[in-house]
Amino acid sequence: MTKKDFRDLEWGVATSSYQIEGAYKKDGRGLSVWDTFSQKPNKIKNNENGNIACNHYNLWKDDVKLLSELGVDNYRFSISWPRIFPTGLEKKVNSKGIDFYSKLIDELLSYKITPFITLNHWDIPQGIEDIGGWTNRTIIDLFMHYAYTISNHYGDRVKNWITHNEPWCISNNGYLTGNFPPGIKNNGSKYFASIHHLLLSHGKSVPIIKSNSKDSEVGITLNLCPSYPASNSEYDKKACNLFDGKFNRLFLDPIYKAKYPQDILDHFIESNLILEEDLKNIHQNDLIDINTKIDFLGVNYYSRAIIRDNNISKEKNQPITTIKSSNKTSMGWEIYPKGLYDILLKINKDYDINSIYITESGCAFSTNPDKNGDINDQNRIKYHDDHIKELNKAIDKGVPCKGYFAWSLMDNFEWCEGYSQRFGLIWIDYNNQTRTPKNSFYWYKKMIQKEKTLR
Ligand code: GCO
Repeated sequence: MTKKDFRDLEWGVATSSYQIEGAYKKDGRGLSVWDTFSQKPNKIKNNENGNIACNHYNLWKDDVKLLSELGVDNYRFSISWPRIFPTGLEKKVNSKGIDFYSKLIDELLSYKITPFITLNHWDIPQGIEDIGGWTNRTIIDLFMHYAYTISNHYGDRVKNWITHNEPWCISNNGYLTGNFPPGIKNNGSKYFASIHHLLLSHGKSVPIIKSNSKDSEVGITLNLCPSYPASNSEYDKKACNLFDGKFNRLFLDPIYKAKYPQDILDHFIESNLILEEDLKNIHQNDLIDINTKIDFLGVNYYSRAIIRDNNISKEKNQPITTIKSSNKTSMGWEIYPKGLYDILLKINKDYDINSIYITESGCAFSTNPDKNGDINDQNRIKYHDDHIKELNKAIDKGVPCKGYFAWSLMDNFEWCEGYSQRFGLIWIDYNNQTRTPKNSFYWYKKMIQKEKTLR
């Protein structure tokens, strides 16, 4: 790499509280919705749960050492809300929870690693779920109080904040497909209410965080998915636009344009997913609050979608794109680096975005240690390398991206997939919690070192 190719990106890795911490009852932590959900039979592969996970709550010092060995600039992690407010409804904080993250932050800073905090990476307190969770407008005040508390305690040392991670997953999987907590299926009213309250709690918390954390940058992380029609048929093109609307525009439009996309609201009502009266959730000024200026957009990118309309048979044999299984990760997700370029260019054109971080990009492959104990995950190295190349192309075209976070620092609890999917740069042996850096770890480290010499 020459000076000319260098784009001054910040490098990082990401994790989330429920996926790595374990110690689910320690030091006064309350239960989160993911604890209660994963205790139910047949919700998670092999009925696994995050009770122990990577035991990061006890091994955090070792993990920070690994981060420093990796040489990252930034570490993105999330706060477990029920460690701070065990039921989410009390006003008094659990000081042991506050202490845990405080020590973690200090340790990171001592290694010159910049903490990026996500406030909500899905594990909200069960006590809040019991009163309706994201469907009850009360959660907005509770979230604002939580955001105030966290930024008040850490705002002097932490300058990078993310309110929510992937609201699409919370609302779509929580209230339509039901494979995430609270496990409700096909309830459009709750789905829409949860989206609105997630976005509103985000917008209302931004000024709170900024006033507690001087000169900080605050954003939100969305999982964005570029979509492509399966053929040139007008049916497929229309279906593709609808997909883009439900997945991407439904979140980006209110945040950046102070409105929900009308075609999607119309579609929801026409298809009886929501009722006219569900729109009453949107109070006067809510969209102004949601549209509060943010400092960056966090983009999580994993794959693309190829969209086929069910009515396609009405048109003559349109050729469609097929995907080879060799080009998929063990999650079954297609590897499509160019999708990152495409979606970044599209959002940069459609919205007035001042800056972007790729807050997650990564792949699950279960390369095991070989007989020498090496974990030669060439497929993961290629995945990151190819995505970073596409990111650099997007930056050359004017996309204001400041950094890249690999998902994830280490293998962890992959939600409904339990421990079966390994996304980490570090291998976790769940029998004894040993951590073994994979070859991708050493590759990432080398790349970061090389780039740092050019700074
Ligand atoms: C996600 C989550 C991560 C997942 C990762 C792989 O953003 O979906 O942030 O927690 O583990 O995306 O599915």
